[in-house]
Amino acid sequence: MKIFIDSAQIEQIKELEDLGVISGITTNPTLASVTGKNFKDLVSEIFSTLSKDRIINLEVIATDYETILKQARALAALDNRVVVKIPCIPDGLKACKKLSEEGIRVNITLVFSPMQALLCANAGAYFVSPFVGRLEDISVDGMEIVSEIVKIYKNYDYKTQILFASVRSVEHIRLAALAGVDVVTSPYEYIKELYKHPLTDTGLAKFLKDWTDAKEEFIV
Ligand code: E4P
Repeated sequence: MKIFIDSAQIEQIKELEDLGVISGITTNPTLASVTGKNFKDLVSEIFSTLSKDRIINLEVIATDYETILKQARALAALDNRVVVKIPCIPDGLKACKKLSEEGIRVNITLVFSPMQALLCANAGAYFVSPFVGRLEDISVDGMEIVSEIVKIYKNYDYKTQILFASVRSVEHIRLAALAGVDVVTSPYEYIKELYKHPLTDTGLAKFLKDWTDAKEEFIV
């Protein structure tokens, strides 16, 4: 399972890019606006922070077919790592079909049901983004929705990749992997938690102490 960082904060993106554990990023209008940066400047900073094979999800801010097409083409033309995020509305799905035929990769965002996900696959989406945390905010079992999407896509061998979004905990990342999604996009803080374990820390401290006590010489 690939991991994307769900952030527009350059320092966070850079740190995880340097660690080598992320395959890309997702942003949205809210995440971009809280940076307080001019959008063009922000996007070019993101481009120069991430290496060549990463995926960069940038979202349109239009809701009508023609403007969605215009904005999506403009975003895709900026860099070949861009996947364009488009909301799951009728004009968005129609635009997804057209853009996919043009070879532009589309991530249909704000997906909350298996039936929306079915339409996204039929519209040729590259990614479908079920928002699990937001479903749980309204007491809907987000994991059940994700499992149904996984099953439906398997049943018909859809190529659309499932991008588990709206992560609210480390546990969500574990459940995403168990459910068999293709990608999870997570805020910085949960990705940072993934490599931590108290037994790693105490184990390492003991290894180093035992080595020091033995007064051995290392190879280099
Ligand atoms: C994904 O692409 C979205 O940006 C994101 O996961 C939304 O998460 P939120 O519900 O925490 O805002």
